Amino acid sequence: MYKSFFHLVRNPFNLTPDPYCFVSTKRHNEALAALYYGVRWHKGFVVVTGEVGTGKTLLLRCLLRLLKESKDIAYAYVFNGRLTPTEFLQYILCDLGLQAAGKNKSELLLELGQFLVSRGSKKLTTVLIIDEAHLLSEDILEEIRLLSNLETADDKLLQIVLVGQPELDDKLDSLGLRQLKQRIALRAQLAPLDGIETSTYIEKRLQIAGADLQGDPIFPAEATAAVFLHSHGLPRLINTICENALIAAYARQCRSVTPEIIQDVAREFRLDVPPSRDDDGTGKNSESDLRLASSAVLDLFASLRKSEESSSSSEAKEAAEQGKHELHI
Ligand SMILES: Nc1ncnc2c1ncn2[C@@H]1O[C@H](COP(=O)(O)OP(=O)(O)OP(=O)(O)O)[C@@H](O)[C@H]1O
Ligand SMILES: [Mg+2]
Repeated sequence: MYKSFFHLVRNPFNLTPDPYCFVSTKRHNEALAALYYGVRWHKGFVVVTGEVGTGKTLLLRCLLRLLKESKDIAYAYVFNGRLTPTEFLQYILCDLGLQAAGKNKSELLLELGQFLVSRGSKKLTTVLIIDEAHLLSEDILEEIRLLSNLETADDKLLQIVLVGQPELDDKLDSLGLRQLKQRIALRAQLAPLDGIETSTYIEKRLQIAGADLQGDPIFPAEATAAVFLHSHGLPRLINTICENALIAAYARQCRSVTPEIIQDVAREFRLDVPPSRDDDGTGKNSESDLRLASSAVLDLFASLRKSEESSSSSEAKEAAEQGKHELHI
């Protein structure tokens, strides 16, 4: 409802993790590069952790978009951590397009093993991607470790991506899972944005939604500072605050969001209690090939977005032409 008031073409702060709205930050780039590089170069295990609402699922969706571009990659995407080991295997097989119905656990494992060996012999990549991995039981983590044993003399047959909240790090640190921990080839952490990143994030999301950045800013510096204060740099909270601030500004017919509006929204959402943070500010992967992968991923991602934009603008043109046509009729 406020879109036309602010001259926007889409909702800038939608909560759905949509790769189209991806804003690149140092941490997100590094994590996406670790994921893509780990899968592409058959590193075996990659783990990404981050606080609630820092963009983990969005990163996975970006990764899936990148993987879909490659014909030689098949993946299973598990986003429900609360499964029994057999249900877990059934889910993976189904997602990979294999027959799982009516099979017991050893039959499922046999079928999956044959599938992986056959793909491996053709130099094809198979990936198991797990979101919300902090919810996995020790039993399932043990199954995953066993799956990671499937390898030939010189290659891993299954690439495994685990993404979850910081409790996943604690789980992997536990004594019982030390074998799995030793197999992790790449790790990355997402953290809340800092003040400057928060302001850039807000600007970029507005830009993606079609805002004219040359005119008076919808979120002036004092407003973005207030958003940072109340969101602590957590992207999901930034989105919630900004979305509601736009609604409130529209209701008051203000073209710019004021710090008072942000405070009102924060009060409504009870965001005055700060969450605890234990970010030490250190990135884990600083290898030069990761940096290279990072820029390669971003280039690939930018070109994907460009092609999406040009196809949607040609669709829009077509729709406009169609509209004109219909009017003439
Ligand atoms: N780099 C980013 N660019 C654009 N939007 C982002 C970015 N990071 C996070 N977001 C947005 O923040 C919101 C939360 O992201 P997401 O759902 O991916 O978080 P999460 O870490 O998976 O949270 P949870 O731990 O609750 O599963 C989404 O709306 C997402 O689009
Ligand atoms: Mg998530």
